[in-house]
Amino acid sequence: MSSLLDTFQGLPVHPLVVHFAVVLLPLATISTMHKDSTSCWSAIDGNVYDLTSWITQHPGGAGVIKGMCGKDGTAAYNSQHRGQGRPASELARFKIGSLK
Ligand code: HEM
Repeated sequence: MSSLLDTFQGLPVHPLVVHFAVVLLPLATISTMHKDSTSCWSAIDGNVYDLTSWITQHPGGAGVIKGMCGKDGTAAYNSQHRGQGRPASELARFKIGSLK
């Protein structure tokens, strides 16, 4: 019986490496196409996050998240939440790639 792993036979990389492939997103894409609450992406510490659904869930209010849409939000995020566990674990759920 064939399995998903058979798909990778003969390829020069292990299947687990494929799982960890990184999507690289330029800041220009973020700032032109994902800059408001209809599609809100932000870069934080070199990673890119789709924060659209988080805008209305943020305990600190929608405004500060809206202010990060289409921008590098590293300074805003770290000034408020650096070293805090719950914000970091929430943030991780929204990662969609890395900044190119
Ligand atoms: C994607 C970015 C962010 C995420 C994932 C996030 C996440 C969170 C979480 C999980 C909490 C609740 C913390 C707790 O109760 O333990 C929180 C609270 C808060 N956040 Fe954020 N945050 C983000 C960005 C920001 C920014 C940029 C600011 C301000 C510049 C901010 C201001 C606050 C404030 C003031 C609270 C406290 C709200 C209260 O207790 O009344 N957050 N945030």
